[in-house]
Amino acid sequence: MTTSTASGMPSGTPGGAPRGMPLAPDTAMARARAADSDQLRLYRLYRTVPTAVEYAETLALEERWIGPMAARFEAGAPDLPDRAALLRALRGRLAAEEAAEDEAARFVAEEASLEQLKVIASEFAVDGLTESETLLPVVARLPFASGLAVFRVLIDELGCGSEEKAHSRLYRDLLTGVGMTLDLEYYVRRAAPESLAYVNLFHWLASRAPEPEYFLGGYAYFESSVLYAFQCYRRAAERLGLSEHAYYTEHLYIDGYHSRQMRAALKSLDTERGLDTAKVWAGVELTGAVAGAAFEAAVERARAAGPSGAAQATGAPS
Ligand SMILES: [Fe+2]
Ligand SMILES: [Fe+2]
Repeated sequence: MTTSTASGMPSGTPGGAPRGMPLAPDTAMARARAADSDQLRLYRLYRTVPTAVEYAETLALEERWIGPMAARFEAGAPDLPDRAALLRALRGRLAAEEAAEDEAARFVAEEASLEQLKVIASEFAVDGLTESETLLPVVARLPFASGLAVFRVLIDELGCGSEEKAHSRLYRDLLTGVGMTLDLEYYVRRAAPESLAYVNLFHWLASRAPEPEYFLGGYAYFESSVLYAFQCYRRAAERLGLSEHAYYTEHLYIDGYHSRQMRAALKSLDTERGLDTAKVWAGVELTGAVAGAAFEAAVERARAAGPSGAAQATGAPS
């Protein structure tokens, strides 16, 4: 992933909003819902064995945040009668997003200072430091062949069992290279609601969503989108002479392989029992909205910090 994948996703509607336009409705909605729900509390709840009371609290928080978004995206899904139509629509959405002008991505690529890049890296650290770990439960929720295709991605994200190759290790190297702490809790406490929503989204997709289609759609979209979304980080790293840039540059080629595996997972599930394409599409849109909102929020924080940065946001080792 994960995730990034720290990902930073370009903002914008599927068709792409021109610079200067108001926030696209999907990211605006995702931002409003993240701000209106307690994402830090949900993050904690997702990491506990809940009591009945805590489980009810989890359900209530999900209903304030992701439940209505998922329902809305599913209800608004285009008519996708089969997997071929679904994949065509996904390709079109990705191409439109890649072609759209994105001011936040331009800022990162061309303008952000090292201190501002550190602000963005700190926002995505909760995800990056634990990359892909929360995705594993989805494997057991899928029929074997489909789960195996996802597992091929996850084992790769986890360095094929070799700690030094795991993507979370690459994120550690990135943070260490720019003098930032590796203390996960430091970042958890300071992350914007949108950043925690991004982490919580992947937990929800893998473990909480009612059907695995949401995950397959979300992650198929995500792995493909990283191939263009991370270009701004590559350009920033080059411009700023960042030596520990492997986290960003590795994703620019390996996620091509991951994207193919996700399409294989969709094919296997389709063969096994047929796909609910509206749920797959809801996963695509949810992930685009929540990841886009997180990127916008992180860039806003970086801009607000100014070129010299804000010490409290960058996490200098203590
Ligand atoms: Fe990754
Ligand atoms: Fe990946």
